Amino acid sequence: MKVLVATDKPFAKVAVDGIRNAIESAGYELVLLEKYGDKSNLLNAVKDVDAIIIRSDVIDAEVMDAAPNLKIVVRAGAGFDNVDLESATAHNVCVMNTPGQNSNAVAELAFGMMVMAVRNMYNGTSGTELKGKKLGIHAYGNVGRNVARIAKGVGMEIYAYDAFCPKEVIEADGAKAVDSAEELYSTCDVVSLHIPATPETKQSINYELVNKMPKGGVLVNTARKEVIDEAGLIQLMEERTDLKYVTDIMPVANAEFAEKFAGRYFSTPKKMGAQTAEANINAGIAAANQIVGFLKDGCERFRVNK
Ligand code: 3PG
Repeated sequence: MKVLVATDKPFAKVAVDGIRNAIESAGYELVLLEKYGDKSNLLNAVKDVDAIIIRSDVIDAEVMDAAPNLKIVVRAGAGFDNVDLESATAHNVCVMNTPGQNSNAVAELAFGMMVMAVRNMYNGTSGTELKGKKLGIHAYGNVGRNVARIAKGVGMEIYAYDAFCPKEVIEADGAKAVDSAEELYSTCDVVSLHIPATPETKQSINYELVNKMPKGGVLVNTARKEVIDEAGLIQLMEERTDLKYVTDIMPVANAEFAEKFAGRYFSTPKKMGAQTAEANINAGIAAANQIVGFLKDGCERFRVNK
């Protein structure tokens, strides 16, 4: 059996070593395709593989058509919006993610970005502190939970909204569960986004919602660019010069944001949330173990397609 690690944004070497160890100990062969750039390189590499480990790499019908032996794709990470699940099911390919494995890394980066925003992008002027401010966690999954844990230490007042998470779960962590996104944005000085990109959430962070934030509001996005209504946010930030937007996922309109909102807008050049040795090891090795469990024992835990 051949397992391909296809990562345009490579894992740390120590994680690749761990993945190799897990795959080879099971008696399988590991093939590494990093920084492949053009999709044709991926199409070529999947020709004879049984399993693929990916990150934000796109696995669509064309890739699956090019991989007749493919049985499983594991997204080493949380969000699987980069995999065509319907097509995977049609190709009889199992798709999994590795929930929770990189969530601390993303939560720490969200905090780093918060500090950067309230300290005026480190430009030397007087900023504000996070202690005592109201933090809104938009979606209380694995990352949201880690954000709440860190926020407690920082001394923030924590609020969270999650349509699918029971209020008791949120409140057991010492956060206040609110009833709607509107209430979260009206209440909080800083909102940290942790919603997945789904048909329902796409462009849902829009003019009306963000405009509910109090004066000096900071929006932190370590989730997905697709959830932002970019045109709406640009219009709002033009009208409200008090708002700041910091993101780990470069918007399509990055140049316009950067030009219009210098000093209150920042984007990482490449998504960095999960880019730590620890997260790479946790997610990468979990992915390798899930592949071995699936191929050897048919274990389908963490399967995300039907
Ligand atoms: C995730 O969904 O797990 C994060 O967005 C990390 O993505 P990455 O593996 O492409 O860094």
